[in-house]
Amino acid sequence: MKKAFITGISGQDGSYLSEYLLGLGYEVHGIVRRNSIPEHQQSRLDFHRKNLHVNYGDLTDASGLERLLKKIQPDEIYNLGAQSHVRISYDVPQYTAQTNALGVLNILEAYRNACPEAKFYQASSSEMFGSSVDPDGFQRETTRMTPVSPYGCSKVFGYNIVHNYRNAFKLHAVNGILFNHESPRRGSNFVTNKVVKGAVQIKKGKSKVLELGNMDSYRDWGHSKDYVRAMHLILNHHTPDDFVVATGQTHSVREMTDYVFSKLGLDYKEFVVQNPIYLRPEELPYLRGDSTKLRSTFNWVPEYTFEALMDEMIEFWMDNIN
Ligand code: GDD
Repeated sequence: MKKAFITGISGQDGSYLSEYLLGLGYEVHGIVRRNSIPEHQQSRLDFHRKNLHVNYGDLTDASGLERLLKKIQPDEIYNLGAQSHVRISYDVPQYTAQTNALGVLNILEAYRNACPEAKFYQASSSEMFGSSVDPDGFQRETTRMTPVSPYGCSKVFGYNIVHNYRNAFKLHAVNGILFNHESPRRGSNFVTNKVVKGAVQIKKGKSKVLELGNMDSYRDWGHSKDYVRAMHLILNHHTPDDFVVATGQTHSVREMTDYVFSKLGLDYKEFVVQNPIYLRPEELPYLRGDSTKLRSTFNWVPEYTFEALMDEMIEFWMDNIN
């Protein structure tokens, strides 16, 4: 039985990846941070728990990581843990860098010392591209990285230190560069789930207004379930390498909002207002990923369209808001 170790196991991607790996017959281990409300910590992991083992741990606690990896001896390590909210990275820039940048170094060191034969996956992000777009309107593996947020800058460090450790210490360490990916399990302060939840609350008479920030940025939104399949493929490629994971389609926040409200028979213009607290000091205006390398290497194709993704999220909130 193969063993996987996942940081960020209680997050959206960690929970889908755990389900996927358990389905493939893996024994799955992961860490969660200590929290004063433990009931909330593992709510995304409320599925079949056999072969799922969750420990307390933190990416900023290097010795704890090493102790766990020594004990578990995983075959595969997925570093999905992060301070993952871009706007909030402006509120807590040092914490973001400690977790997303030095945290990667901590777990790489633990991996190198405890189980260097394992394979290592780093959750890198399209936010690393920042303001760079190739002349054809896409971002791909070769696009220059000019990040525009503390979050993006911290992720560039993680991406580079993975390269460095791969080359210097001959480790099987890879980067998946994932564009935005969503699902009903997405935190409700990310824009898709915020819009869907808010629109359903309005539809059900529980709220009258939805406050958003910038509606004119564009994102390439896929489904987390499709993207965790890609993580497993990327990690298990015969040669450690980096791959972009994206749908290749882009929509503005305004188009996405219009789609959701229209599906519910509402006109978003009557309910959505701008609140400057949701604006970012520097915005990333446009993302559209070219995942040709991933598709041609693994025959990966996303199963969800943008519409199917949003419809699943709408259905979830319609069923769960009374
Ligand atoms: N969160 C949020 N809340 N975003 C808003 C809002 C709002 O009220 N109003 C407009 N937006 C805009 C943001 O300014 C941004 O342009 C866009 O919606 C998407 O915001 P998020 O959903 O917060 O995602 P993100 O693109 O900043 O970051 C996500 O994707 C990255 C991959 O590119 C996160 O999942 C990152 O962790 C991930 O790396």
